[in-house]
Amino acid sequence: MTENLTLLEKAALLTGKTVWETHDLPRHGVRSLWLADGPHGVRKQLGAADHLGIAASQPATCFPTAAGLASAWDPELAEEVGRALGAEAAAQDVDVLLGPGLNIKRSPLGGRNFEYVSEDPLLAGKVAAGLVRGIQSAGVAACPKHYAANSQELRRMASDSVVDERTLREIYLTAFGIVVTEAQPRTIMSAYNLVNGVYAHEDPFLLTQVLREEWGFDGAVISDWGGSNDVVAAAAAGGTLEMPAAGLDSARQLVAAVREGRLAEADLDARAAEVLQLVREAREPGTAAAVDVEAHHALARRVAARTAVLLRNEESVLPLAAGTRVAVIGDFARTPRYQGAGSSAVNPTRLDSVLDVIGESGLEMTAFAAGFQRNGTPDAGLRAEAVAAAQGADVALLFLGLDEIAESEGLDREHLRLHAAQTELLEAVAAVNPNVVVVLSAGGVVEMPWLGATKAVVHGYLAGQAGAGALLDVLTGVANPAGRLAETVPVRLSDTPTAETFPGRQRTAEYREGLYVGYRYYTTADVPVTFPFGFGLSYTTFAYADLTATADSATVTVTNTGAVRGADVVQVYVRRETPGVHRPDRTLAGFARVELEPGESATVTVPLGDAAFRHWDTVTGAWQVEQGTYAVLAGAHVDDLPLSVPVAVTGTMAPATDDPALARYARADVRRVPDADFAALLGRPVPPSSWSGPLGVNDALGRMQTARSPLARLAYRVLAWQRDRADKKGKPDLNILFLLNMPFRAIGKMTNGMVSTEMVDGIVRIVNGRFFSGAGAVVGAFFRNRSANRRTARELRGDA
Ligand code: BGC
Repeated sequence: MTENLTLLEKAALLTGKTVWETHDLPRHGVRSLWLADGPHGVRKQLGAADHLGIAASQPATCFPTAAGLASAWDPELAEEVGRALGAEAAAQDVDVLLGPGLNIKRSPLGGRNFEYVSEDPLLAGKVAAGLVRGIQSAGVAACPKHYAANSQELRRMASDSVVDERTLREIYLTAFGIVVTEAQPRTIMSAYNLVNGVYAHEDPFLLTQVLREEWGFDGAVISDWGGSNDVVAAAAAGGTLEMPAAGLDSARQLVAAVREGRLAEADLDARAAEVLQLVREAREPGTAAAVDVEAHHALARRVAARTAVLLRNEESVLPLAAGTRVAVIGDFARTPRYQGAGSSAVNPTRLDSVLDVIGESGLEMTAFAAGFQRNGTPDAGLRAEAVAAAQGADVALLFLGLDEIAESEGLDREHLRLHAAQTELLEAVAAVNPNVVVVLSAGGVVEMPWLGATKAVVHGYLAGQAGAGALLDVLTGVANPAGRLAETVPVRLSDTPTAETFPGRQRTAEYREGLYVGYRYYTTADVPVTFPFGFGLSYTTFAYADLTATADSATVTVTNTGAVRGADVVQVYVRRETPGVHRPDRTLAGFARVELEPGESATVTVPLGDAAFRHWDTVTGAWQVEQGTYAVLAGAHVDDLPLSVPVAVTGTMAPATDDPALARYARADVRRVPDADFAALLGRPVPPSSWSGPLGVNDALGRMQTARSPLARLAYRVLAWQRDRADKKGKPDLNILFLLNMPFRAIGKMTNGMVSTEMVDGIVRIVNGRFFSGAGAVVGAFFRNRSANRRTARELRGDA
C-alpha cells in the first residue's frame, strides 16, 4: 500500500494539513480526509476553524448530549442516533466524526461529564458501541475518545493520570474495549494526558499492547487536538495521526528518525497504511443523500423524551392533565441550556424553548417569570415576580439548572450546588404553592438539599435542540418517563470517593480511590446517596420474579403492575459471595429494556458479559475469574435488587488473597489513602506530584505564574485576568482556558508549521529568564524553519 510513496510522503500522512484535514498526495490519487466534531451533532466549520466550538459551523441537528442519551440505557436508541449523526456527517462530506466520548465519570466535578456516558464501564461501552455502529453504517468513520484515563479538565494536556493497572483495566479501559471489540470503530482518539508517565498518544502499552494486540484494533489512532508530544515516539507506539496541523516540522522529524535508525521504517509504513486505509474506505464526497432536517428534529425530540429521568413524583403530581394551570418559572424555560460549551457545541438547525412550544402541550400557562439571573446574581425583583406568578396556579413548573460557566470543556466544576438564587427561589415558591415541579437542565448531577420542597423532579440533562417539547411530553404523560440514572446523585460532594483528590492540581492526577468509582464506592462503603445509580421512576410500576442464572446469562420476568404502558430497564448485578481479592460489593453485569402494556409480563434473558465475574490479576498479569459462589442480583437499580440467585463459578484460578497492604481497599476506605497504601496498589512508589525547578516544554502555560521571567509572569496575569473576566460574565472563555492548560510544546503542534520544536525550546528558555539566549534561539530557528518548510513543501509537491 505504501510501496510507491517516498519517506516524506508517508511521514506527511501522519500529521494534519489544516485544523480539520489530513494531507493529500495528489500524485498518488490520495485525497484529504475531513474530520469534524462531534459527539451529539456535526460541527463542520468551513470558515474560521478552531477546536473549541467558537467560530460558526454549518447547521446540524443537536441531539441530547451523551450524559442524557446514557439515561435511556438503550444501545439500540444510541445506534439510531448514530445513524442520524452519520447521515448528517456524510451529507456534509465529513469522513471522520470525532465521537462518541466515553471517558468514565470519575468525579461528578468533571467539566466534560456532560459529553460522557457513565460512571460504569459496561453501560458506557454499550451505549458508545451503539453510537459507533450507527455512525459507521453511514460510511463515516467514528472516533471514540479520549483513550484513556482522561478524567479532569484542569491541566488536561499536561496532567499525568497515576493509576494502578487493575483499576485502569477494570474501570478506565473496559468501556473502550467493548467499543473496539463490538463495534469496530475505524479510528480512536488518544487522550491529551499522560497515563503513568507516558503520553497517551505515544504509549506502547495503551496503543500497541492493549488496543491493537489484545483488542484487535486495526484502524488509525488520532491524537487529540494538540495532544501529540513526540511524533516519532507516537509512530513507534502505534499512534497514527497527529492533529491538527503540526506543519512539516513533524514530517521532517519522522524522516530523520527513519534515516538515523531511531524509527523502524516498518512502523512508519504501518501508520501510513492506516491513514491510506481510512482514505480508501471513505465514501466518495458528494454522494450522500440530503438530510431530512424535520425528521431529525423529531428524532431529537423522541430521544430527549427517552433520556429524561423522573427522580421524584410525590402524590403522583405528574403527569399533568390537559388544562392544568401552570406557572412557568425559570430562565431556562425561555433560554434553554440544551448542550455544553466546547468542541462538542453544535449550531442547531432549530431550537425550541419551553415558551415556544408550551402552547401545543395542552397545559394552560397562567404566567411566565424568569425568577433568577442565570449567572446567580441575586435579584429580589425577579424572585418576587416569580412568587406572584406561582400564586394561584395549580402547579409551579420550575425550570432550574446549571448555567454555561458551571460545566464546560476546559473547566472542572467547583461544587455541585445550584446557584443560591435558584434554590432560594424554589423555597419561596414552595411557600406559596405546594405543587412545585422542578425540571433540571444540567449535564451532570447536583446536590439536592431542596428536594423536600418539591413534589416532583425531572432531570432533563442537556436535552438537545428539541428538548423543550420532549420535557413537556414527559410532564404531560405523552411520553412515560423511562430514563434511569447512568451516574449516582450523591448527597454532597464531600461524600464522593474523590472529594479529596479531584482534580489533581499539580503534575499528577492520583487515582487513589482505585476501583471505587461511583456506585462501586457508595455500595461497598455503605455511603447513603440521594439517588442511586440506575434509579428512575415511571408513571407505572414494575415487579420482578423468577430469576434464574448461569455464569453466561440471567433470566427474569418483569411485569407492568400499573395502569399505563411503560418501559423498564431490568438491571443485573454480580456480587462475589466467597472470599477473594478485594472487589466492589456489586458491579453491573447486564441490562435489558422492555416495553410493557398494563398487566403484561415479559421474560428477558440478559447475557452476562465477559466482565461480569473477572478481575485483573496483578500476579499473573491476566484476566482471571476466581472460583467461588457469586450472587446474580436483579431489580430496578443498584440499591433495589429484590431477586438474587447463587451461581457456582469454576473460574480460571483458585480464590486469591490480597496483599495485606491493601486492607483499606477491601473496606473501600478510599477517601484519604496514605501514600504507603496507594504505593502498594500501584506496585511502585507514588511519583512526585509537586513541581520544582525551571519550566519545561511539557509544562502548561498556566505555570508561568511562577516563572523566572517577569515577562512570562505578566503573560500569565493577562491570561488569568481574561479568564476571570469571562467567568464573571458567566460565559467561559474557551480559548483562554485552553491556553492556560496547554503545554508549551503544543504551540508547535497547533500552528501549522509556523513554530518548530526548536523554536518552542527557545520560548521556554525565555520563560525561564534567559531572555537573550532564548530570543536568539527563536529567531535563528524561525528562519531555519521557514526555509525548511519551503524545501519540504516543494519536495512533497514533487518539484524539489
Ligand atoms: C477536544 C476533542 C475534540 C477536538 C477537536 C479537543 O480540544 O478535546 O474532544 O474532538 O478538540 O475539536
